[in-house]
Formats: sequence, structure tokens, C-alpha cells
Amino acid sequence: MAEEDPQVGVERELLKEISMSVASIILAAGQGTRMRSKLPKVLHTLLGKPLVWHALRVVKPLVQQPPVLVVGYGADAVKEAVGKDVTFALQKEQLGTGHAVAAAKQQVAGKAETILVTFADMPLLRRETLQKLIDVHQAGESPVTMTSFIGDEARGFGRVVRNEKGHVIAIVEQADATPEQLAIREYNVSAYCFDADWLWDSLTQIPISPKGEYYLTDVVGLAVESGYAVESMVLEDPTDGIGLNNRVHLAQAEKVMRQRINEKWMLAGVTLVSPETTVIEADVQIGQDTVILPNTFLRGETIIGEDCQIGPDTTVIRSKVGNNVKILASYLEHARVADGVTIGPYCHLRKNAILEEGVHLGNYAEVKDSILGPGSKMGHFSYIGNARIGKNVNIGAGTITCNYDGKNKNTTEIGDDVFIGSDTMLVAPVKIGDRSITGAGAVVTRDVPSDTLVMGVPAKEKRKMEKSD
Ligand code: UD1
Ligand code: CA
Repeated sequence: MAEEDPQVGVERELLKEISMSVASIILAAGQGTRMRSKLPKVLHTLLGKPLVWHALRVVKPLVQQPPVLVVGYGADAVKEAVGKDVTFALQKEQLGTGHAVAAAKQQVAGKAETILVTFADMPLLRRETLQKLIDVHQAGESPVTMTSFIGDEARGFGRVVRNEKGHVIAIVEQADATPEQLAIREYNVSAYCFDADWLWDSLTQIPISPKGEYYLTDVVGLAVESGYAVESMVLEDPTDGIGLNNRVHLAQAEKVMRQRINEKWMLAGVTLVSPETTVIEADVQIGQDTVILPNTFLRGETIIGEDCQIGPDTTVIRSKVGNNVKILASYLEHARVADGVTIGPYCHLRKNAILEEGVHLGNYAEVKDSILGPGSKMGHFSYIGNARIGKNVNIGAGTITCNYDGKNKNTTEIGDDVFIGSDTMLVAPVKIGDRSITGAGAVVTRDVPSDTLVMGVPAKEKRKMEKSD
């Protein structure tokens, strides 16, 4: 047998890849008039992230190339919110969902044989659902496979019209439906798979609607007219189909999404005392046997260790918390907390607050850009900013690092085993050596060597401490 021209082999491989691969188009060009907002609909937040973020998160692992996001209304803002790993297509005028898909043709044509089309305002669709849709489509004969759900609330969705035999014959938009069609309780989800060539051709045949739009839904009717049996994958869980057309739907979607995430963590071994008042965002991680008390918000890329007790009334944003930590009624943002730390009530940890193992913060502590070394304690209303504090330091009630001189942030350095007396003002830049003591009400304006007691305003050396060893 003659050897195959290597070029032909390469082409054959490429064709095989294209035939199995799936390209994604996500529609996000609409304004979302029913939201009554200055913000494009897809930038409204659901569980802390824009709608479009959720749509991309679900689809990305299913496709080989970056999804193509169709933008239009507020395009620049949407692009900025989305960032990398996305290809954009611009739909200059919003002439309907069919028109929007056509706007993405250039970016996907020739790259895949199956085109997955989803809408950015359907954030509750699960990845497994879309994977199943792709599988059903690739196994079937029809050039279009759609999804629908049976539900109690229409939310303005298109109705799925079937014939006596139960075959899909059309999708009718709510605005154009007859009273009989309005009574149909099977709704169009707007997640489709298409054979690419058939799609590009059919999009050119969509008639213009009375509203002057080109409806993507009309391609279903076109497929039926050409004699194909269109399959609709009916979703088992109708909450997958909660789409957002107004802010009532936004609240409904938020509730379902919270519930899904909360249940996931409960099943993974985390106790949520009051799931209805606990908000855990998608990127959070929580260790086993941690207990979350009511009214607690865990946001952004937050990691909580095992055996912790968080809340009640606590917010943790993009922070890392170790094992065995107790946080009561406090607010943490961009902080790092090691094992065995206790915090609160009413503490505020701001950016780069680092609490090492066993640190204790009592009431009303504020910490920013500072490290508190292992075992250090700060029991009562103090502010620590731009400071490096050693181990086993006791910070008395009302201590303040005076870190800002009106121009610059200056640092305070405190050694190990230091005792800072109540109401000490540490006027930075300033250093306090190991084992030193400041008297109550001291205003420390100069560096204090090790093993030294200072007192007064401004603080002066009183005596050297005796070494205990
Ligand atoms: C659409 C479907 C409807 C389905 C419902 C559920 C059509 C004609 N109707 O209606 O059958 O039940 O979704 O999801 O498809 N968009 C664009 N460009 C446009 C218009 C819309 O990109 O010109 C985008 C929007 O940003 C949005 C999505 O497409 O993400 C859906 O638009 P929307 O106006 O909300 O359609 P529905 O009325 O919900
Ligand atoms: Ca919609």
C-alpha cells in the first residue's frame, strides 16, 4: 500500500477534530429593558458576580476554543467585566436573538461542526445539562436540538408547541402567542445545539417578526418544515430554567443559586446553622466540620479551614482562614488568618492583615497591612496599621499605631514578648525591641531598645528590665 501523503494525514486529523469539537456562542448584546437599569442586564450581579461571568464559567470547560460572546449594548463595559479567554463578536444593532447568533459567524465558522448557543441571562443552567445537550445532539439526526422545561411561571418565555404526536413543531414567543398557546406550560430555555452549516444557512431564512426582530426560535420551525424531527431535551430540574428578565427573577435566581451552593457544602461536611441567611459565593472553599452561624457572608476566593466556627454576623471577603479558627461578628477583607486564631466580636481585618497561629483579637480591633506574630493578643479596641509585631506580644486596650503623618504611611516594628500598655500611641516610624514595656498612656516617638520600660508623653526610658533567664 502506498504511503499516505503526510499532508493528507494532517488534514484528516484536523477534520476529525472539527467534527467532534463544539464551539460556543453566548448572547449578551441586549439591553435588558425589563431590568429598568442603567447597567446592561448581563452585568447585574448574581451571588457577587455578573450574570455573564456565570454563563462563561459553565460553558468554558465544554469547549475547545474560547467561547464567542456577542456584545452590543454597553459592549465596552461588558468586555471589561469579562476579561480574558473570551472572543468577542459585536452586534451593532440589537435586531433579535437570531441576528445576534449570525453576528458571531465569522468567529466560529469552520472551527467546529457543533455550535452550542446559550444566553447570558440564563445563569442557572448547569454544566452537566449542557454536556447532555451536546451528547444528545451529536447522537441524533436533527440539525437542531433544543431544551425546555415544564414550569409554573412563564417569566416571559417562549412556549414549546408540539403536535398530536408530541413532536416539537415550533416555539412561539409570549408576545405573539394565542390564548391557547399561552396556556402551554413547556417553556423554551434557549440552550441549543446546531449543526454549523445548517445553522448559518437557516439564519438567513428567518422571517422578520412583527416587532422587527429576527428570532432564533424560528429556526426550529424551519427545521420542522424541512422534515427533521426536532428533539427537545426537557430539563429534570425546572430551576435550571430560571432566566432573568426583571429584578424579581434576579432575586429568584439568587435564592436558587445560594441554595445549591449551601447544599453542596452541607453534603461535604460543613454545618450551616441557618442556610437561609448564609451566603457562600461560587469560588469559596470550606473545610470539614466547620460550623457557619447565621447571617454570614463568604465572598470571592475565600478559603476557610476545618473545624472553624464562623459567625454569626460575619463577612469574609477573599481571605484565607486556617483550621480551628473562631470568628464572631466581624468583617475580614483580603486577610490571612492562621490556625487557632480567635477574632471578635466587632473586628475589622483589612487588606494584608496577617494573623499568625493562635493570635487573639477581642472587641473592636482594626488591623491593616500588618503581621501579628504567633500568640500575640489584642483584646480591646485598638488600631494596628503598617506594623510588624513579633510573637507573644500583648497589646493593651486603646493602642494605636499612628502610621500616617499626612503624607506617608510609616511602619511600626515590635519585637517578641513585648508588653504595650493601655492607650499607647506608637508614632511611626518606630521600633520597640524584644521584651520591652510601654506604660499606660505612653506616646512613643523614638525607638525603644530591648528590655526597656518607657513611660510618659513623649515616652522616656524609665529603667532596664531584668532578664528572666
Ligand atoms: C428568549 C427566547 C425565548 C426563551 C427565552 C428564555 C427568542 C426570540 N426568544 O426570549 O423563546 O423562552 O429567551 O431564555 O430567542 N440578545 C442579543 N441580541 C439581541 C437580542 C437579545 O444578544 O438582539 C441577548 C440578550 O442579551 C439576552 C438573550 O439574548 O442575553 C435573550 O434576550 P431576551 O430579550 O431576554 O429574550 P427573551 O425575551 O427572554
Ligand atoms: Ca431572557
